Amino acid sequence: MATIQDCIADATQRLRAAGSETARLDAELLLGWAVNVDRTALIAHRDAPVGADAQARFEAAVTRRAAGEPVAYIRGIKEFFGLAFAVDARALIPRPETEALVDLAVGEVMSRLAARPGEAGGGPGAGGDPIRIADIGTGSGAIAVALAVALRNRRVVMGRNVTIAATEVSPEALDLARENAVGHAAADGMRFIEADLFPPVLPDNGAPFDILLANLPYVQSDAIAGLPIATSFEPRLALDGGPDGLDVIRAVAERLPDVLTDDGVALFEIGADQGASGPAAVGAVLPGWRTSVEPDLARLPRVLRVERP
Ligand SMILES: C[S@@+](CC[C@H](N)C(=O)[O-])C[C@H]1O[C@@H](n2cnc3c(N)ncnc32)[C@H](O)[C@@H]1O
Repeated sequence: MATIQDCIADATQRLRAAGSETARLDAELLLGWAVNVDRTALIAHRDAPVGADAQARFEAAVTRRAAGEPVAYIRGIKEFFGLAFAVDARALIPRPETEALVDLAVGEVMSRLAARPGEAGGGPGAGGDPIRIADIGTGSGAIAVALAVALRNRRVVMGRNVTIAATEVSPEALDLARENAVGHAAADGMRFIEADLFPPVLPDNGAPFDILLANLPYVQSDAIAGLPIATSFEPRLALDGGPDGLDVIRAVAERLPDVLTDDGVALFEIGADQGASGPAAVGAVLPGWRTSVEPDLARLPRVLRVERP
């Protein structure tokens, strides 16, 4: 019977030959999934035998990976912001760089709550209307759900202190977002809305949002064919941002005067090469509005911040 070590060595070779740049990691993740243990346990028990059923599951998974399918879709799971998200071909696989947007959103909510007058002098217990947040193009729900969990861990009461409206044009992706919210017990104070960017009437009788978050498609249409093969398994709707990659961001920017409170802020994820073109595109739609770009952990342009003049 093949051992863990044998299986990993064979699969690594096969995946490397198929063009994977992360062949060994892929093999370890897929074997861990097939035998239902984490990677550390695999490494600690390299000489343990792999049963016939697990080996068959592993072989099938390696064949899918060798054909280019992302590991996350094969395992059905992706870690984002320290949480396990269910993922499949209904939605984009959440990317680590998007965590920057969640970090900024957490800071924004906490400073707004702290600035509120309340019985306890501010903080999550303070009174007033909830802070209204939108996550436009929620996909798997990664941003909305990670934010809700992070706020809950800071004793923010979802529904009372904060509400989140997650919109999505793809009903299949929206189902996945709902599943992830339920899976993390984070559905309180959260609404999932099928809409082309915004519903005809915003939630809470049309009340504008205090914080708008959006990781929308921002890849240039003619760059999509050149992306790694794994990307071809993801919905094109999640990637294609039009000729300059900024069409969907521009369309949201056009709506900001109506959908954002006077002191509201919009945070858009942008591509590392859009640090100049992103603010320019939004500035052309919203003359006089303030724009700035925040870097991610790799110091690359990542989040475009937009506020009223
Ligand atoms: C880049 S993916 C990001 C998904 C998720 N926000 C994340 O960070 O993992 C963009 C998402 O926007 C959605 N989308 C594209 N155009 C949209 C539109 N006009 N209205 C609402 N959602 C849209 C896509 O279906 C996709 O789920």
